Amino acid sequence: MKPLNPKETVQELDKFIVGQHNAKKAVAIALRNRWRRQQVAEELRDEIAPKNIIMIGPTGVGKTEIARRLAKLAQSPFLKIEASKFTEVGYVGRDVESMVRDLTELAVKQVRDEETQQVQAKSQELAEERILDLLLPPAPRKPVEAGRLNPPPEGPADQGAPAHAEPGAQNSTREKLRSMLREGRLNDREIELEITQHNVPVVEIFSAAGLEEMDINIKDMFGNMFPKKTKKRKLKIPEALATVAKEEAQKLIDMDRVTQMAIQRVEQSGIIFLDELDKIASREHGHGPDVSREGVQRDLLPIVEGSTVTTKYGMVKTDHVLFIASGAFHVAKPSDLIPELQGRFPIRVELSSLSKQDFVRILTEPQNALIKQYCAMMETEGVRLTFQGDAIEKIAEIATTVNQRTENIGARRLHTIMERLLEEVSFNAPELDGQQIMIDAAYVGQRLDELVKDEDLSRYIL
Ligand SMILES: Nc1ncnc2c1ncn2[C@@H]1O[C@H](COP(=O)(O)OP(=O)(O)OP(=O)(O)O)[C@@H](O)[C@H]1O
Ligand SMILES: [Mg+2]
Repeated sequence: MKPLNPKETVQELDKFIVGQHNAKKAVAIALRNRWRRQQVAEELRDEIAPKNIIMIGPTGVGKTEIARRLAKLAQSPFLKIEASKFTEVGYVGRDVESMVRDLTELAVKQVRDEETQQVQAKSQELAEERILDLLLPPAPRKPVEAGRLNPPPEGPADQGAPAHAEPGAQNSTREKLRSMLREGRLNDREIELEITQHNVPVVEIFSAAGLEEMDINIKDMFGNMFPKKTKKRKLKIPEALATVAKEEAQKLIDMDRVTQMAIQRVEQSGIIFLDELDKIASREHGHGPDVSREGVQRDLLPIVEGSTVTTKYGMVKTDHVLFIASGAFHVAKPSDLIPELQGRFPIRVELSSLSKQDFVRILTEPQNALIKQYCAMMETEGVRLTFQGDAIEKIAEIATTVNQRTENIGARRLHTIMERLLEEVSFNAPELDGQQIMIDAAYVGQRLDELVKDEDLSRYIL
């Protein structure tokens, strides 16, 4: 896999996120440093720790979006979690180590999916053979001594097909069936399949902090205690093919290797996005829940710095996991974090509030831009939606005004406004089939001006 250089990473991020250049730059560098580290001679390699990042900025300006897109680009295992979800070790709730477990779980799934993809051709081939066997049970090998001949297996669904024919005829029938199967001409037929079931009863296991490890063992224990059961089910051929292919794929995949690769991937390229770090950033020694916030920060220290976490797949070292934290830091400041934690996030980037011009661009430019989304949605109803330039200007302006007057929720404001603006069109779309609807500034004004003027109303609706 060719790693992206920082400029390319920023260019890729530009396709989805408007502005916020500094933040993009910082994460692009962090990503490249990953690769650089892997090229460094081994003695030094393990010494180089990732430079964790804090993204500071108001709500809805793209913090999460940047991290999410970055992980996609890097094809790294990526976990997003709110820092405020954790509780101090010893208290009831999720302890911080659980994020490493979750990340590992994700990575295992990622690698397993990839491996399944790799053996897909093979598993489909095997599935086809198995289905053919069911459709046309293979003839007994050789007529052994008469009388001691085992009764041939009963074909469950050999309707129509001449079972147990002569080997030559058998072969040609099988091939005929095969081509029928491939052409989908047997799609309506049902066959009976033995399906393996993991019969683990659903048990809600309450995990208290500190008990998570036990939780893991309990699950494994249950998995082994209840034996695999097979169950007969009647399935249509396409469904049966898919089911059998899945089973065959599972047999072809070496789960030990998957686990090993997954752990390696987490250790070498995992990214954990710690959202709402500011929510645990208070240093007042008060009473109540605040006390444990500092505890959570303390618990975070070893994980961020590098420690070993026991997961059900084995030990995972967090030394080189990249942590990207984010928060609005309106009330609390990064300096309110305990000093040890501040030091573990050496890179600070600030994201700026979004201006009217940014909103115009956000509405139109990104690959997943809101306007594009709405047009595509209406297209499915046969309605062609178009937006005039002045309409987009006006929407951006309204978003800016409402953000200033009520709460600044950043680009999320565009969602509420667009929803309101297009409510009627959206509702009536099925009857508007074939029409072209043009949204201009006048239409935007007609739908929204009253709302914007009335401050109370806009507080609730926009
Ligand atoms: N600069 C931007 N360019 C394009 N889209 C953006 C931008 N900022 C925000 N958005 C859009 O707004 C929405 C919210 O953004 P995001 O989730 O990144 O907010 P956030 O900064 O993480 O806020 P919070 O602090 O509330 O978590 C997303 O749908 C995102 O696509
Ligand atoms: Mg966010």
